Amino acid sequence: MDTTRRGLLIGGAALAPGLAPGLALAEASVDPTPPPTIRAHLGVTENPYGPSPAARKAAIKALDETPYYAWALEPPLVALIAKRDRVQPEQVGLCNGSLEALSLLPTAFAKQGPIVSAQPSYATPLLYAQRQGARLEWVPVAADSQIDLDALAARAKAVGAGAIYVCNPNNPTGLLLDPDALRAFCVEMSKTCPVIVDEAYIEISPDPERHSMMDLVRAGHDVIVARTFSKVYGMAGLRVGFIVARPDRVKSLKSLIPTHKGRPGLAAAAVCYGDPAYLAGAKTYLEGCRAKIYAICQANGLSYLPSYGTYVFVDSGKPNLAFQKTLASMGVEVRVFDSPRHPTWIRVGTASPAELDYFAQVLPKALKA
Ligand SMILES: Cc1ncc(COP(=O)(O)O)c(C=O)c1O
Repeated sequence: MDTTRRGLLIGGAALAPGLAPGLALAEASVDPTPPPTIRAHLGVTENPYGPSPAARKAAIKALDETPYYAWALEPPLVALIAKRDRVQPEQVGLCNGSLEALSLLPTAFAKQGPIVSAQPSYATPLLYAQRQGARLEWVPVAADSQIDLDALAARAKAVGAGAIYVCNPNNPTGLLLDPDALRAFCVEMSKTCPVIVDEAYIEISPDPERHSMMDLVRAGHDVIVARTFSKVYGMAGLRVGFIVARPDRVKSLKSLIPTHKGRPGLAAAAVCYGDPAYLAGAKTYLEGCRAKIYAICQANGLSYLPSYGTYVFVDSGKPNLAFQKTLASMGVEVRVFDSPRHPTWIRVGTASPAELDYFAQVLPKALKA
């Protein structure tokens, strides 16, 4: 596993120290302490179960065509997604990981008004938009850590939102919204601005069809559903995502994307999308990892939220930035989030059973430190 690269991927101030080699070098002149060796990468949300065997084989085979751009692979993948998700091909927009669409669209929509999102949530794309000049409006989650749809609606109306971003299940809480409540929210709010629903982890929810807002896209609402092959499909390194949305929104996305897509990723995605056997295996694996995290928390008297993502949000009972450093010094990387409601919470990624075993070993010592 290329651990330094994994560290670089997530970036940001909240990262455990010692992961980015560039930063480590830059700091070496002021702090000679060697960075801790990370043995459990629990700060990320990837799925080490990895791609399906068919996807792996297709990606490798695609290398034979590496000299050539991959234009020809896009329409068949779009057609496949459209058929499976019962939309028109013009309603499907491919992107280099869903982060690309989730960053570029809010940046464009911000010309009409602020981007409204719950906090905490997956802030990375919104912070990108902010760096390009977008105004962000953060609405704290409710006391039970669930996204407060009423408060989100009220704020969006009050500020004249350019778009609303809803992550479902939310990252980092792992909580799923009530599908009927979210559906009603999306129908109402999309009358005034696009509602972006990030469904990066929806495949492992109990009933993906019911929890997904794709039916609203089918019905013509201005809802943009973002999906990815990075998480449950285990292909984060291949960079394939897509949106399902109104044709005009798909057209805008295409006009904003400056780059080509990669051949191995497109080839792999085309052979695994919706593969029930593979998805069942990935789901079982991830549920097993989550159960392991729950058991570790219970053994240490820590409370946590039941998660539908590839991570679990855990109340460490300690100031989270300091606790993150303590864990890092013991070889465990976790992530913390900017959220006034969660000063003691850490996000623990499902990672691999071996990494979780190491976490189980270290946690009691870290809690006593
Ligand atoms: C909620 C959510 N959405 C989107 C992404 C972006 O994933 P990718 O760009 O790899 O599709 C992530 C990655 O961490 C995520 O957690």
